[in-house]
Amino acid sequence: MSQRRLFVTTALPYANGNFHIGHIMEYIQADIWVRFQRMQGHAVNFVGADDAHGAPIMIAAEKAGKTPQQFVADIAAGRKPYLDGFHISFDNWHSTDGPENHELAQQIYLDLKKAGLIATKTIEQFFDAEKSMFLPDRFIKGECPNCHSKDQYGDNCEVCGAVYAPTDLINPYSALSGAKPVLKSSEHFFFTLSDPRCVEFLEKWTQDGKLQPEVANKVKEWFSVRENADGTKSEGLGDWDISRDAPYFGIEIPDAPGKYFYVWLDAPVGYLASLKNLLEKRGDNYDAYMATPGLEQYHFIGKDIVTFHTLFWPAMLHFSGRKTPDNVFVHGFLTVNNGEKMSKSRGTGLDPLKYLSLGMNPEWLRYYLAAKLNARNEDIDFNADDFMARVNSDLVGKYINIASRAAGFISKRFAGQLGEVSADGAALLEALRAARDVIAPLYESREFAKALRETMLLTDRVNAYVDQNKPWELAKQAGKDARLQDVCTVCIEAFRLLTIYLKPVLPALAAQVEGFLKVEALNFSAAGAMLGKGHVIGDYKHLMQRVDVKQLEALFEPPAQAEAAPAAPADLPGGEAIAPAITIDDFAKVDLRIAKIVSCEAVEGSTKLLRLTLDAGEGRMRNVFSGIASAYKPEDLVGKLTVLVANLAPRKMKFGISEGMVLAASHADEKAQPGIYVLEPLPGATPGMRIH
Ligand code: 2FM
Ligand code: ZN
Repeated sequence: MSQRRLFVTTALPYANGNFHIGHIMEYIQADIWVRFQRMQGHAVNFVGADDAHGAPIMIAAEKAGKTPQQFVADIAAGRKPYLDGFHISFDNWHSTDGPENHELAQQIYLDLKKAGLIATKTIEQFFDAEKSMFLPDRFIKGECPNCHSKDQYGDNCEVCGAVYAPTDLINPYSALSGAKPVLKSSEHFFFTLSDPRCVEFLEKWTQDGKLQPEVANKVKEWFSVRENADGTKSEGLGDWDISRDAPYFGIEIPDAPGKYFYVWLDAPVGYLASLKNLLEKRGDNYDAYMATPGLEQYHFIGKDIVTFHTLFWPAMLHFSGRKTPDNVFVHGFLTVNNGEKMSKSRGTGLDPLKYLSLGMNPEWLRYYLAAKLNARNEDIDFNADDFMARVNSDLVGKYINIASRAAGFISKRFAGQLGEVSADGAALLEALRAARDVIAPLYESREFAKALRETMLLTDRVNAYVDQNKPWELAKQAGKDARLQDVCTVCIEAFRLLTIYLKPVLPALAAQVEGFLKVEALNFSAAGAMLGKGHVIGDYKHLMQRVDVKQLEALFEPPAQAEAAPAAPADLPGGEAIAPAITIDDFAKVDLRIAKIVSCEAVEGSTKLLRLTLDAGEGRMRNVFSGIASAYKPEDLVGKLTVLVANLAPRKMKFGISEGMVLAASHADEKAQPGIYVLEPLPGATPGMRIH
């Protein structure tokens, strides 16, 4: 087989948080495929990078008191333990804020402009005059125009599901400053995907059979007239708004002062930038590499970012005169214990670093995920019981067991030497060798679950052979030495073949096996040969532990809650230790205001809460729920002044939205010293005064 050249990527994670299990699943999927390709003798460059740009990261950096550059560098510094920990064999990890990406993104844009596919249009958008910036949809909130729920995002209502433009919101406000946004017009740059050239190219590129059928079908909808969630109709591909106004953390658009590329324009260019960075570190030429005849380019991604990768990205590449991807491999989401989808922002469920820190073997997870992954974009579930069963009974019980049943006899009785294999064993080994032609294509087509199922069927056959021949009994019988060596040799040869088939999934284990068998690095062509009589193997050391249920319990134990923390000594003030020191700046972040309790009522269905209507001098009323029903009758509070945390993010509760919090004192151990005391200022204070 001639050597293929492959360039493989995984989606670039936003540099605003640590990896969660969804990222790790994607990296493991791609890594298994890449390792398989390498084992076939192909040359792969496998790269990743942080997706550094965009408004959310800029805002998060500001909140953290860092420059965006420092903020993303700090996130990047935490990547290695995850990647090394789960044996992800990236050749390079870079950043979309690197110089290569600035240069490549600008060049691609200029090439698209030359091709006549960049247009400008003046559009009106919400602007936060206090922050002097245009507001991304997610940072504008207001009342839903459909169901009138308060505090809904600018793009859709979480209560009734309506989809709308930010300008449709009633009483919109900026989630950054609270200011009322004003409409302001600004010139934006568009990639004109509606151009017939683009439509024609993309229809062909997406429908020529390379994409997974479910992906191609989904994408097809984008070319036709379709109904939007709000009932309006959209016609075919629209032009894509690729610019954002300063201040923005991103790449400047050439010859357009104050304009930046929208993060999704430069993010996939980051694939090329990371590759270029890698090649140049090696002293190789990026342009020459990209011009390699037959070079194959593949992107592993999740099903939520399909449009960017199957429409915008191939069009950007094609019309800027560049190579387009050979395919985009789409996977589904991962759920944990039938729980909710691992969203990008919430890493709930299974914390990968906690997994490693508990001493859990990363290859258990690789094996388990591989046993569930296929070539479709179906969601998969991590189930703790299933995980333990598959690892313990299949991986350890069936596969590892083969070596442990045979190796001791070979080393103790035959000085580590393999012997002659007779006809029955040879037939079994021949069947195992032939399985390569079934298993390799399954890896190639990302049908990992099937590849492992085939491999486990082979382990069953080998274990049946062991059970039939009972080496432990042969060992006790006189004159059976030759047969004992024969049977154990078959087991060791079989174990080597099985290790080849599992190596893309279990690279560290395979390396241990290579050491124990005293063989060169295993690859798929090694399945054609045998170790042969006289080969000496090393001493067997136990290769893999079983999963202990205690580890799983610890993994899914929720992080200690404040309430669950060990009780503070009772002689401390209020029964609670004083919290760690903060600076005056930390304190200044909390905006405390005097508020008047205008009305107060019991909440039907709750014994704890009272609903307070507060006037904090803002010219509007606030609705606040407070857990003080056990201590006050509603009528006792009406007309009183109290203290409100005025800049607490609004919180959706079962009974409605709470727009702040009222301060009240209580003892940490409510049972030892019951009572809740709402704070009231000394006379003279008026609603709206800030507490310093
Ligand atoms: O959805 C995301 O997490 C994006 N950061 C993925 C970008 S993939 C590529 F285009 F960079
Ligand atoms: Zn609504």
